Amino acid sequence: MAELQNDRFLRALLKEPVDRTPVWMMRQAGRYLPEYRATRAKAGSFMDLCKNAELACEVTIQPLDRYPLDAAILFSDILTIPDAMGLELRFAEGEGPIFDKPIKTQADVDRLFVPDMGSDLGYVMNAVSTIRKELNGRVPLIGFSGSPWTLATYMVEGGSSKQFGKVKGMMFEQPKMMHQILDVLADSVTAYLNAQIEAGAQAVQIFDTWGGLLTPRDYKAFSLDYMAKIVDGLIKEKDGRKVPCILYTKGGGQWLNAMADAGADCLGIDWTMDMADARAQVGDRVALQGNMDPTVLYASPERVRQEVKSVLDSYGKGTGHVFNLGHGIHPGIDPETVDAFINAVVDYSPEYHK
Ligand code: CP3
Repeated sequence: MAELQNDRFLRALLKEPVDRTPVWMMRQAGRYLPEYRATRAKAGSFMDLCKNAELACEVTIQPLDRYPLDAAILFSDILTIPDAMGLELRFAEGEGPIFDKPIKTQADVDRLFVPDMGSDLGYVMNAVSTIRKELNGRVPLIGFSGSPWTLATYMVEGGSSKQFGKVKGMMFEQPKMMHQILDVLADSVTAYLNAQIEAGAQAVQIFDTWGGLLTPRDYKAFSLDYMAKIVDGLIKEKDGRKVPCILYTKGGGQWLNAMADAGADCLGIDWTMDMADARAQVGDRVALQGNMDPTVLYASPERVRQEVKSVLDSYGKGTGHVFNLGHGIHPGIDPETVDAFINAVVDYSPEYHK
């Protein structure tokens, strides 16, 4: 395996000194890039793209060829696990994900199983090893999964949701059934992330996109405790190097203290809090990733550069910061504005590490 040429992302996650703040973007391979749209058209459906290792590799690398990013992220989706459990995922044009067989009854829950990482999800591992080979040590590769709670929202709602009435109704009325779903998901996510690490992922991120919908009590019981169990079961070291884990709960700012004790190396922060406050709360326990408001990218390159400076100032001096957006980049953003964003991090951040 080729030696890693740029390890500042892995170093910052472990709070080791770096020359500048590393940067990558959630959803960095996606529809805002014309070259992504071209490959996607060639592949057919979104899931066809995920299942084609060569094309998934191609779109993973596209943003790296444009911008000086410090990490690549596997091109896939969080909904691969429920799809492999037989819920029959499809993406309807303009509507987002749909499960044709959502979970409604106890019998549906009893049918859930931990998918086989070779036969059911082997296409994801193929994509990981193909990308890792193609990167040839250029930057580290991030693997990822959804959190059990976030996956459960799609599985019970049958797709995206605005009110989350079905899944939250089930949580309040049939908590045992909900815990049964979350248990099999936690075992699946642990096996899934470990298989990605075995296939070549050098860091992993858990996306808890919908944990912020919960009360503090329910966040702990239905989301955080399961993520802590997953982190506990992860492979910690591979080929003589630590494999750091990032925990991202959108809307989780008020729970950083509890999240910092879940065992992860880094917490992803959305834009609704200042990095300075986040850092004060977590202290030396974990690194932080974030947190520029993704809608700043609708403004001018000049305004974007100011905002980059503001986020760097808020975190302050020293290691332990991975620059990112507070959530995924929107499909309508101009790639030129992204260029201003990434290069501003490269230009301004060395100051903070002297
Ligand atoms: O960050 C990356 O570049 C890696 C790829 C990635 C995708 N999805 C590609 C994708 C990652 C990390 C995800 C995670 C994901 N998927 C999450 C959690 C992350 C978050 O944003 O908090 C969620 C909730 C999903 C579920 C999902 N997948 C939805 C709701 C949609 C529809 C979105 C839409 O606007 O249509 C997807 C599809 C999807 N996943 C796309 C991409 C690039 C768009 C598909 C297309 O090309 O049409």
